[in-house]
Amino acid sequence: MFKVTLKGRQVIHIELERELSIMAAAAKGEQPLNHTCGGHARCGTCLVTVEEGGANLTPIGATEARILRVLKARPDQRLGCQAWASGDVTCKVD
Ligand code: FES
Repeated sequence: MFKVTLKGRQVIHIELERELSIMAAAAKGEQPLNHTCGGHARCGTCLVTVEEGGANLTPIGATEARILRVLKARPDQRLGCQAWASGDVTCKVD
């Protein structure tokens, strides 16, 4: 069991038993991220800032890297739809 913490309109903690995307975890916690493209790494509206636990996220793939470059994202930012957590993670919703 591990925990995804999201700091958005309010701080929520979602307890998970298996790997899940940050976007899916947010929906499970009833604080859904914006997701204009439906989670297909095209829009960037699901951008989050990873405050802790970045090592517990899946690596950045080529598609996500391309969108992050377009968005001029900082190194601590990820697409919630592409970053899957497998351990404790804390993210700020951008
Ligand atoms: S929902 Fe569009 S990039 Fe993540």
